Amino acid sequence: MKIHTQAVHAGDRKKPGEAIPVTTPIHTAASYIYERIEQLDRVFAQEADGYCYSRYDNPTTHALEDLVVALEGGHGALACASGMAALETAVLTALTDRPKRVVAAQALYGATVRLLTNVLEPLGVESRMVDICDLEAAGRALSEVRPGCVVMETISNPLLRVGNLDRIAEMTRSAGAALVVDNTFATPLMVRPLEHGAHMVVHSVTKYLAGHGDVLGGIVVSDDAHYQTLRALSRTRGPVLGPFESYLTMRGIKTFALRMERQCANACRVASWLATHPAIERVHFPADPAHPDAATIRRLLPAGLYGAIVSFELKDAGREEIFAFLDRLKLVVRATSLGDVHSMILYPAMSSHRDLAPKQRERMGIGDNLVRLSAGIEAVEDILADLEQAL
Ligand SMILES: Cc1ncc(COP(=O)(O)O)c(C=O)c1O
Repeated sequence: MKIHTQAVHAGDRKKPGEAIPVTTPIHTAASYIYERIEQLDRVFAQEADGYCYSRYDNPTTHALEDLVVALEGGHGALACASGMAALETAVLTALTDRPKRVVAAQALYGATVRLLTNVLEPLGVESRMVDICDLEAAGRALSEVRPGCVVMETISNPLLRVGNLDRIAEMTRSAGAALVVDNTFATPLMVRPLEHGAHMVVHSVTKYLAGHGDVLGGIVVSDDAHYQTLRALSRTRGPVLGPFESYLTMRGIKTFALRMERQCANACRVASWLATHPAIERVHFPADPAHPDAATIRRLLPAGLYGAIVSFELKDAGREEIFAFLDRLKLVVRATSLGDVHSMILYPAMSSHRDLAPKQRERMGIGDNLVRLSAGIEAVEDILADLEQAL
């Protein structure tokens, strides 16, 4: 062979022999070859297991999907390039054979609201927002809208409301709709929504599952009934997670339960410390016995694990005072996202809920004095000292 040909083929496609690597390798190949073309034909036809093209399936990403299925207890999963790609794919899957109507919790991540109102509505998908913690209102919305899909978060962003998952799943099922639950804030350490009757669970793996602020990704874990449609949609639309991000996410997940336990404990300490601070007007945290969803929280969340987000309102503060407070922080990182090993803080009116009209934010209870803290794994004394000097 000439040097130009050698440069392309020599040394490539070496098999690892009998050895099994102790961690999943990053398989970057876009496509796969077999000894005989007939084998590839059977894989294409989905008559045989195997890989042919990474938009359909990739060994590294598949390993991550199997891992999260084990954590969430579903039938199968689809890892996506972001939490939003996962949410959109889950909603489209739910609506494939159902009426193109959605009932969604009023308290949702801002981009999820925009997905429904700015992306899906112009395509003919009608949606109605309802206070999902008010079961009567939710029931009314279900019978008026007769949706194909219901969307909610286990613990809502940023006000940490907790809906009655079992009852909502029951109501959704009797309405013939599919329940999609964004479990990003709770993680499967605290709640496994499929066991409470959800049809699909979504994560922004960018947050607690990957956990180190270096991955953008999402995943849908689905029940048996929706899995084929989920994968078929993905084969054509291609919202998939790349192998490098899948590898990083798997690496992160190995310590996710340990990190989450520590982060939850830190958040509990921060919330009770803030509750008595003279500069604080109000703390939103699920461990609070006066929380509006306290009864559901007692039933749904394991004792001592209330999530690792604390939202709080500063007394007599608006945008200017909040910005000054945030600028004074030295340890807690002023950045969007959450769930990383380091503590992070942000101003929802400026970030996650920025694009919503002020009136809509007000309706959702997201005031100009609200900040959201994501507790990291640091020593809690250091987090408290930083908050104290900045307040
Ligand atoms: C609850 C929740 N769901 C979904 C998302 C979207 O995830 P991603 O940014 O990975 O697309 C976020 C992002 O902040 C979130 O907080």
